[in-house]
Amino acid sequence: MTVTVYVPCDASALSLGADDVADAIAKEASGRGISLHLVRNGSRGAFALEPLVEVVTPRGRIAYGPVKVADVPGLFAADFLNGGQHSLALGLTDQIPWFASQQRLTFVRVGIVDPASVADYVANGGYQGLRRAVAMTQQEIVQAVLDSGLRGPGGAAFPTGIKWKTVLDQPAACKYVTCNADEGDSGTFSDRMLMEGDPLALIEGMTIAGIAVGATQGYIYLRAEYPHAHRALNTALAAAYQAGYLGSDVMGSGKRFDLEVRLGAGAYICGEETSMLESLEGKRGEIRVRPPLPAIKGLFGQPTIVNNVMTLATVPVILQQGAEFYKNYGMGKSRGTLPLQLAGNIKRGGLVERAFGVTLRELLYDYGGGTASGRPIRAVQVGGPLGAYIPASQFDVAIDYEALAGIGALLGHGGIVVFDDTVDMARMARYALEFCAVESCGKCTPCRIGSTRGVEVIDRILGGVASERNLQQLEELCEVMLQGSLCGLGGMTPFPVTSALKHFREDFRARTRH
Ligand SMILES: Cc1cc2nc3c(=O)[nH]c(=O)nc-3n(C[C@H](O)[C@H](O)[C@H](O)COP(=O)(O)O)c2cc1C
Ligand code: SF4
Repeated sequence: MTVTVYVPCDASALSLGADDVADAIAKEASGRGISLHLVRNGSRGAFALEPLVEVVTPRGRIAYGPVKVADVPGLFAADFLNGGQHSLALGLTDQIPWFASQQRLTFVRVGIVDPASVADYVANGGYQGLRRAVAMTQQEIVQAVLDSGLRGPGGAAFPTGIKWKTVLDQPAACKYVTCNADEGDSGTFSDRMLMEGDPLALIEGMTIAGIAVGATQGYIYLRAEYPHAHRALNTALAAAYQAGYLGSDVMGSGKRFDLEVRLGAGAYICGEETSMLESLEGKRGEIRVRPPLPAIKGLFGQPTIVNNVMTLATVPVILQQGAEFYKNYGMGKSRGTLPLQLAGNIKRGGLVERAFGVTLRELLYDYGGGTASGRPIRAVQVGGPLGAYIPASQFDVAIDYEALAGIGALLGHGGIVVFDDTVDMARMARYALEFCAVESCGKCTPCRIGSTRGVEVIDRILGGVASERNLQQLEELCEVMLQGSLCGLGGMTPFPVTSALKHFREDFRARTRH
């Protein structure tokens, strides 16, 4: 009898020794004459349990973790291949509270399937959305996306259906679908996890997008720092072509869709959609002035969809289960679910997909377990390096685009970075401006010059030079950057700075060792 064992090949598990654990399990099994089917899956997203090894038993998948190479002989001695008892045994994976309480729609297969196998993808509900899409008119597909209420978590929370309708309505003969997989925000990794753990979901979503708007070519713009995702995507692309899900006759529909991966060269600004298009065209990553919108004049001057990985990977769920099903999750104008990422000083980091409406407090304490340092949480930054700092008094805020905007914060890509009470918020504000100065594309003055001047002003405050006047100047400078910048980098850098000034003003005092 052959036993199936899952050992993740996600970058988080690899960094904790998953490859060595997989080798040790294969070697031990072979030494004992056991026939093993070893599957390298994605991560289930509970990083404290990685490498999380799962064994398929008649009762279901049983988990053990975190497993080290030294644990492997003991696991075999405890008969773990039959779900035997061991100090690392966690029971049925689906019943581990971290997973059981989640509402996984976009991540429904991540950590479950073999990312390289089309057959496994299809056996777990994959390509049902595309199957329905090829039988629909273009308008019907776009209407389903519109009705679902899906909004892109790439940054602006823009309704995806409106973007698609704009591209569909353009009379151009050549259109493109591009996926923004630059994932530059601090503390974010949901795009990476999906591309490593279920790349076919993104490929299916892009194929549906292409058929919906009449585009025959797609590009995934992937940051070069994601070599494992690059490999997983290329393997999945080859498998999808081989099985007839890409190419000149998608699923026998007579429709063409081709897709390839393009690597970025590593600049935060290349995640902004117009910079990304410049970079895809082989030029320097620099902002394009809008209008025209990319949906009207995008890649190589043609109408172009630009969507984030999460957006496109969610589309198959909507087509498969229907717009109503998706829309029934969430609150207010934030419909569906969001894969949230817990990072920074947190005891249990990882990925939690929940319907909009879950509170920040639930995420930080019920899932995250508080700080890794054991000290109180003082601040969290939600939405990447341009997100506001949220103080403990606001942790009951709901994860909802409008609720966060109501407290002057943003949700962005759903990254949550945690800081304990030793954090120096004036230094964090300085860091935000320094980051902007380094990453600025240089096209407009408020951002190019303002960020550098901002660092100097904070240095003067911390150095005790005319602190009150410089604090006022810092606030005025933030206002200029907010109002006058050409894109979100300069326009949103004031959020972390002004939120630090508002909630943690006591940190902006002169210090002797500055
Ligand atoms: C400075 C800056 C960086 C950005 N980085 C990313 C990124 O890494 N990934 C992403 O999807 N969107 C990023 N965005 C947002 C994109 O411009 C764009 O709104 C998004 O890709 C659209 O996809 P969506 O509608 O599916 O969210 C960034 C925006 C700015 C201003
Ligand atoms: S705000 Fe900064 S990154 Fe954006 S266009 Fe201006 S200089 Fe470039």
